[in-house]
Amino acid sequence: MEGQVLFFRDTWAEVDLDKIANNIKAINEVLPSGTEMIAVVKANAYGHGDMQVAETALQAGASYLAVAFLDEAIVLRKKGITAPILVLGASRPEDVKLAAEKKITLTVFQEDWIKKAQDFLDQNEKLKIHIKLDTGMGRIGIRSKEELKAIESLILNDERLLFEGVYTHFATADELDSSYFEKQLERFNQMIEWLEVRPRYVHSSNSAAALRFPAASFNAVRIGIAMYGLSPSPEIEPQLPVVLKEAFSLHSRLVHVKKLQKGDKVSYGATYEASGEEWIGTLPIGYADGWIRKLQGQEVLVEGIRAPIVGRICMDQCMIRLPYYVPPGTKCTLIGRQKEEFISVNEIAQKLETINYEIPCIISSRVPRIYKRNGETIDINNSLLNK
Ligand SMILES: Cc1ncc(COP(=O)(O)O)c(C=O)c1O
Repeated sequence: MEGQVLFFRDTWAEVDLDKIANNIKAINEVLPSGTEMIAVVKANAYGHGDMQVAETALQAGASYLAVAFLDEAIVLRKKGITAPILVLGASRPEDVKLAAEKKITLTVFQEDWIKKAQDFLDQNEKLKIHIKLDTGMGRIGIRSKEELKAIESLILNDERLLFEGVYTHFATADELDSSYFEKQLERFNQMIEWLEVRPRYVHSSNSAAALRFPAASFNAVRIGIAMYGLSPSPEIEPQLPVVLKEAFSLHSRLVHVKKLQKGDKVSYGATYEASGEEWIGTLPIGYADGWIRKLQGQEVLVEGIRAPIVGRICMDQCMIRLPYYVPPGTKCTLIGRQKEEFISVNEIAQKLETINYEIPCIISSRVPRIYKRNGETIDINNSLLNK
């Protein structure tokens, strides 16, 4: 059954595509007019699902997609995406033929790379290129005028290479102190002046910069985290000109419920001990799903009430202390809303001492993604989830 997800374990992530579309529209409204949006769907759209997010983003107003690696772009092409796709990371020069064939735009930042790549392109093939400038991120990119001049001239002198864009990436756009950001912006402005030709796309901003610094928008912005409804960092959240809505939630159902007596133990190492009569429920999710052992103690929502994970998290299961007896099959929410209670992606990130970006990415591919559009669940054949 095409487009349907078949699974036999009641643990799933839900991705609300309406929220993604609304986030994109809200972001577009605050961008300087004429700014194009490049939707960043690398890493399986930050764990949300590349194809579904790509389609939603394009329908909602994005005009370009970006991924980290050529592999990810090829997967999108295989799934039927025809929109332009930019590969943000490094590609191998020997793979340019494939990129040209699939109309995938590559990022370029080394003279030698271009010389090698030229040997792999046939006379009539065309490869779209964005030049990457390192203005202070220190990751990939051209740093000097000489390098930039040499690369630009190689591109302009080869009809097979289409100089379509130039860009950079900010290291601190999500920090309250904007001084380093400003230095990078100044450097970018300086470096693009060195170009002989101004390409069609000039872009520098990620979500944080796009939402905070309109002067850095040039004519396109690369939006990742904000599209998924998450703030690029907690400290800039109050400054954001849009209200973002989280699209990702995570759910499971109790597979076993039992009453423990005082002194009874739970899980590996028998580290948890019931302090009296307690109802303990078992959820079929564990560290192999990305629900890692460090989440011991984190709360889960059951009937809108917070219930802590007790004992060690196992590879495929974990146990929670229930507020009262609830039957097996009861839906539990690990990320998301139940009644008045909400467990945000940020709460999980804080518990894991990391950034919100990491959370949907680490929920492994073993957890099926279920999609909601127009308020309805799509790609689903498991009627249990509709209850
Ligand atoms: C080069 C580049 N541009 C844009 C983005 C999107 O950033 P954000 O998710 O903060 O919007 C990323 C993601 O890390 C990136 O690496």
